[in-house]
Amino acid sequence: MTNKSSDDQFAAGAGYVNGEFVPVSEARIPITDLGFIRSDATYDVVHVWKGQFFRLEDHIDRFLASTDKLRFKLPLDRTGLIAMLHRLVALTGLQDAYVNFTATRGSLPPGTRNPLDCTNGLYGFAIPFMWIAPYEEQPQGIRMITASAERTPMASFDQTIKNYMWGDLTAGMMEASERGAKVPVLLDRDGNVTEGPGFNIFIINDGVMMTPDTGVLHGITRRTAIELAGDLNIETVVAAVTADALNSADEIFITSTAGGIIPVTMLDDEEVGDGQAGPVASRLRALYWQAHDDPRFSTLVDTSLAEAAE
Ligand SMILES: Cc1ncc(COP(=O)(O)O)c(C=O)c1O
Repeated sequence: MTNKSSDDQFAAGAGYVNGEFVPVSEARIPITDLGFIRSDATYDVVHVWKGQFFRLEDHIDRFLASTDKLRFKLPLDRTGLIAMLHRLVALTGLQDAYVNFTATRGSLPPGTRNPLDCTNGLYGFAIPFMWIAPYEEQPQGIRMITASAERTPMASFDQTIKNYMWGDLTAGMMEASERGAKVPVLLDRDGNVTEGPGFNIFIINDGVMMTPDTGVLHGITRRTAIELAGDLNIETVVAAVTADALNSADEIFITSTAGGIIPVTMLDDEEVGDGQAGPVASRLRALYWQAHDDPRFSTLVDTSLAEAAE
């Protein structure tokens, strides 16, 4: 079967469920999978931009580190996993895609509650690219609130494992929506800044860029922002960021695979700096999109794999 036209069954997205490729609307997980009923899962999201994966190997590294920490044994090795992701995107024919891959604990065999007795699952999907804030809205910046919900601490769950335990983040999103903001940022128990739903956070004060060191996912976009800032000789400090530092920041921006580097211009109804997207965030944002043309970061999707569908 050829799946290259935009009007075929994979145009809205392709799913991978334990070895099978199916249209995304038909992708199902077993209801007893502990990934579903216990959030016992890890995942990653890589994006495809203009037909190329961005930092694919880095996303795979993070995913495999997370699956190791959860003591999962995957049914595919690294090469198989990469081939699966290429094929998912190839099936859709999408040029710009949001590509999720998820490993789950799987279902408990009868008569045991031991998570280590499960056969772990592997799922994935490729769908049209998703934005925290659309590209054309980003230059104006977005509104953020400091959420009342506290971020789940590292002592309870290692937040460097990308996870679906979004109770705190979802509470923050609902609060942001009620308060007329686009996104929340969550503090930890000590009042330090952590992250938000699907993104890391940076501040700039007196020309120095800062981002929290702990209690957060090590975002691939966060890493890109730090590397790009290095190229511009901007000093970056990865350390605790207090709520006071956030409130008095000259600039704030967020980083995410789902949208890149996005300036924040309002925090809790106060303007950040002069209320315009800051110069550092704007410069880094431009460089971030330029980096998509850099062969060090980009991998062409192998579209020949679309032909291999059954
Ligand atoms: C909680 C959390 N923090 C940060 C990020 C940003 O990570 P990345 O830049 O790798 O997309 C994500 C991405 O989904 C996330 O879920």
